[in-house]
Amino acid sequence: MTAVTTGTAVEATVETTAEAYEAAFDAAVAADERIEPRDWMPEAYRASLVRQMAQHAHSEIIGMQPEANWITRAPSLRRKAILMAKVQDEAGHGLYLYSAAETLGTSRTELLDKLHAGRQKYSSIFNYPTLTWADVGAIGWLVDGAAITNQVPLCRCSYGPYARAMVRICKEESFHQRQGYESLLALSRGTPAQHEMAQDAVNRWWWPSLMMFGPPDDESAHSAQSMTWKIKRHSNDELRQRFVDICVPQAETLGLTLPDPDLKWNEERGQHDFGAIDWDEFREVLKGNGPCNEQRISQRRRAHEEGAWVREAATAYAAKHSGKGASGDSGTGGARSARLVEKEATA
Ligand SMILES: [Fe+2]
Ligand SMILES: [Fe+2]
Repeated sequence: MTAVTTGTAVEATVETTAEAYEAAFDAAVAADERIEPRDWMPEAYRASLVRQMAQHAHSEIIGMQPEANWITRAPSLRRKAILMAKVQDEAGHGLYLYSAAETLGTSRTELLDKLHAGRQKYSSIFNYPTLTWADVGAIGWLVDGAAITNQVPLCRCSYGPYARAMVRICKEESFHQRQGYESLLALSRGTPAQHEMAQDAVNRWWWPSLMMFGPPDDESAHSAQSMTWKIKRHSNDELRQRFVDICVPQAETLGLTLPDPDLKWNEERGQHDFGAIDWDEFREVLKGNGPCNEQRISQRRRAHEEGAWVREAATAYAAKHSGKGASGDSGTGGARSARLVEKEATA
């Protein structure tokens, strides 16, 4: 009898504690406070964040491929240096985001395995080919531009590590957008052939860029819950509209036309109207039937396999030197490690 009473009391306490945790979580989100890794959070919130951050991280590293395609053929040393820096930035973005996802108890290895097995997605935009040099400019202007529009509100996301990673990423994306714009401007004001190349790239990248904001609000599976949790701050359609309104005057300055005959200013709404997006194309690309899906994922798998020795060497190096940093003489140890790395890099 006593045992039963005690059991019930314990159960009641556990229930009260779980409710208290949940109430504290809801209150923190409502007050615009950040949720940190050690805080209690609903399992569905954790799963939703892992899904979104993984997809974001995967997009950063898969997104390196279409542009890296042009590094060896950049038209000048200056353009080559800029493009290399940009592609490296994207690798860095992937790193920040995988690290941020790790704070939720999921490893980078696990996420990469899921990407390679086709069990997690990356942005559909990177399944389109880069046919000419002007595509590099169009990607910077439109793809990085759409990414910024999507990502600036994520700097205020309720999960602390994600929000903080986004602050630095957005600063770098901003540079990417400007370099793309400047490169397209140079082409647009160049020879007639260069102008035509710029226009052709914009024609091909405009619609896929609008698809980057995701399906329309009434078809977006995760949107409502993400907005309640303040992971997401604006709806897909709201952000898409904002992007269109930003791009129209920029296209005018570029001297390029956006390939949409229905695009026009709506005085009443104070926004631009634009034509219908081909959602069948979007769904096909998501299903794996885009022009470059297979190429992107097989190249990623190959890069991962060929990089195995680098991961092994880095792990062995870290294990070999792990005791030294903890001896208290971290200043000297750090400098010594840095010298060793430098020596190995030049060897
Ligand atoms: Fe990026
Ligand atoms: Fe970028």
